[in-house]
Amino acid sequence: MQKKYLKNGFSIPLLGFGTWLMCGDKVRNMKNDDRIDIKSIQTAIDNGVTHIDTSEYYAQGHVEKIIGEAIKNYNRKRLFITSKAIPINLGYKNLIKSAHSSLKRLNTDYFDLYLIHSPNLFIPIKETMKAMDHLINNGFTRSIGVCNFTVSRLETAQNYAQNKIVVNQVNYNLIIREIERKNILGYCQNNDIMIIAWAPLQKGILAKNNSSVMKKICKKYEKTPAQIALNWLISQKNVVTISKMRNKKNLIENLGTLGWKMENSDIEYLRSNFPNVKYLSDTIPLEYDKFLKSYISNWVKSKNNSGHE
Ligand SMILES: NC(=O)c1ccc[n+]([C@@H]2O[C@H](COP(=O)([O-])OP(=O)(O)OC[C@H]3O[C@@H](n4cnc5c(N)ncnc54)[C@H](OP(=O)(O)O)[C@@H]3O)[C@@H](O)[C@H]2O)c1
Repeated sequence: MQKKYLKNGFSIPLLGFGTWLMCGDKVRNMKNDDRIDIKSIQTAIDNGVTHIDTSEYYAQGHVEKIIGEAIKNYNRKRLFITSKAIPINLGYKNLIKSAHSSLKRLNTDYFDLYLIHSPNLFIPIKETMKAMDHLINNGFTRSIGVCNFTVSRLETAQNYAQNKIVVNQVNYNLIIREIERKNILGYCQNNDIMIIAWAPLQKGILAKNNSSVMKKICKKYEKTPAQIALNWLISQKNVVTISKMRNKKNLIENLGTLGWKMENSDIEYLRSNFPNVKYLSDTIPLEYDKFLKSYISNWVKSKNNSGHE
């Protein structure tokens, strides 16, 4: 699997395997046939995928467990494992505890990359970054990063960390362009930080895109819409991606995005002409504080109105 490098030596595969919505949602689906999910991870590895992305959040940690099961007979050194701590666990002690629980479930003694899943404005970032430094300084992770961080949050987090934040994992694809509008893409490109684009196919929607703009580029490169959507990301400086590809047909199709690079003029053509672009993530908007504040105030209001304690 081809990799991208930062100047500081960090490297990461161009395309990784996402695991959100395996084994359930935020709650584990007890009826899920885990053997199918385990097999899909192994099929991906057998076809050259090395980066597997997960979180303690996914199916209440159960996805980490099935990844541990899937990778147990593979050479750990050849894999790149990422996990994440959820916002509620960003206090110093909780974060270290979360990391150790994830490692245990994953059946490994280190992460290649450990991420803050989303910011938490109620826990001082200084405390969180001290815990992230502890994990890297003691060999529990090779590198550290964040998800869904604005530029100002990234700068603040970096100011409190001894180690470099090498990744910002964000919602980015041909439709969702929030990170372009908020200069996160430019900032990361200029500051030696890798973007991992999540939901690169906008949860599969882009694979079915039949706009004239998409058709024109598919025809030129003789590729499918999914391959074009993924290649548009990985052809950009400091951008790699992860897609959930449980279905083998999707996996093989997506691997066809590797080994070639879109011309810059086509990257810019798609950037400027792709239809129905949105400048806010429809899943996790980066103006997270506003979102969280209004969520909490609505919750307090509804509690007061209902007369409950
Ligand atoms: N940091 C964060 O806050 C955050 C948030 C969300 C997600 N993530 C991570 O990012 C990963 C990627 O996001 P995502 O899973 O939403 O990615 P995605 O690639 O945009 O969407 C995955 C969906 O598209 C389908 N698909 C994949 N390739 C396809 C193809 N060639 N043709 C048609 N359908 C295709 C998959 O189906 P099958 O699985 O059936 O093949 C799956 O349903 C997640 O899995 C998770 O690990 C991180």
